[in-house]
Amino acid sequence: MDKQNLKIKIGDLEFKNPLFCGSAEHFIEEAGIKKAVEEGAAVVVAKSTNESENAKTQLDKTDYALIDSSLNNISWGLGSDMSTGLIGRSGLVNLDSKEWLKKISELDNWAEKKHSYVAASIIPRNMDSLEELAKEADELGIRILEINIGAPHASEMKSEIETVTEEKKVSEIVMTVRRVFNGSLWLKLGSTSENVSKLCLAAKSSGADAVVMIGRMMAMFPDLDSMKPTLRTNVAYGGRWALPITCRWLSESRKMVGDDFPLIGTNGARDGYDIARMILSGASGVQITSSIFTNGFEVISKSLSELLEYLETKDTSARELIGLTADRVETYDTQNTRPEIWKEFVPKDALD
Ligand SMILES: Cc1cc2nc3c(=O)[nH]c(=O)nc-3n(C[C@H](O)[C@H](O)[C@H](O)COP(=O)(O)O)c2cc1C
Repeated sequence: MDKQNLKIKIGDLEFKNPLFCGSAEHFIEEAGIKKAVEEGAAVVVAKSTNESENAKTQLDKTDYALIDSSLNNISWGLGSDMSTGLIGRSGLVNLDSKEWLKKISELDNWAEKKHSYVAASIIPRNMDSLEELAKEADELGIRILEINIGAPHASEMKSEIETVTEEKKVSEIVMTVRRVFNGSLWLKLGSTSENVSKLCLAAKSSGADAVVMIGRMMAMFPDLDSMKPTLRTNVAYGGRWALPITCRWLSESRKMVGDDFPLIGTNGARDGYDIARMILSGASGVQITSSIFTNGFEVISKSLSELLEYLETKDTSARELIGLTADRVETYDTQNTRPEIWKEFVPKDALD
């Protein structure tokens, strides 16, 4: 097994592999963050913070449910099938934001010795507090700062957090952080923008080092028995079904921003083969979150073995894989004309 094949770069930073852990509740406590690094993750994005008291209180109002491929609400527990979807109502880390950044910087120092990174994540509330926290992260020597401007839950609580979908606002946010933060700046985009690629271009032009795409969708899921919403509220919804949608935005963004700008995939990757799929679509790194949340930290080492096996079978490396499929996407206009081919697909009794 040649682990050299797994190495990738994002800007000036080298990563031992493209498996990154996306921010969530299992990266609040030191134990979870350290376990993910020990299983081999190149980056662990710690749970997001901001200074909204409501968002912190919300952590104690979270709830989660598993939805199988027939839309049954199934019981929680390790070992759920990878086709299972996750719905949930999340909150933010309930520590003081500056204290949390200090903790992350200590963990990032620890991770450096293991050739990994622990990244901080901020969900912006307003420009002043964003700048202050980004400055603090810089002074603490945190090497990677992710700014999530697409948090799906933002509209559901009184938190002063908005989901950003305009290029002008993206530029303002990136430039504000860039002024004070010298490390690697990653912007995480949500799924509600009508053109994720345009936001990606705005982030690149304003000085981001990478763009992470795309956050989960918001949903509402009726429970047939009680006739009430499952978990009582609107919920964020993710699953493997989202992977092709993420891949399409990666591929479209690569077309728009060029192959020299690093993209990071999130939303839908469940194993090492899914990581390969996102890399083929243009991602340099891939964040996985839900599959570790539901199936445990072993998903990390298993996914790395699967990815390595795939690379060996194809006699290639993660770096060489980036964007190979994206660069082969054809247009509808160039497809061969095949008269009445559609008749092979419709039910026979739809035809005269
Ligand atoms: C329970 C839970 C909590 C999450 N919390 C955060 C968060 O605090 N900040 C953030 O940027 N993303 C958060 N996310 C989104 C994930 O980082 C990730 O982008 C998303 O789940 C899609 O990836 P996946 O399909 O691998 O789960 C959360 C996701 C889940 C499931």
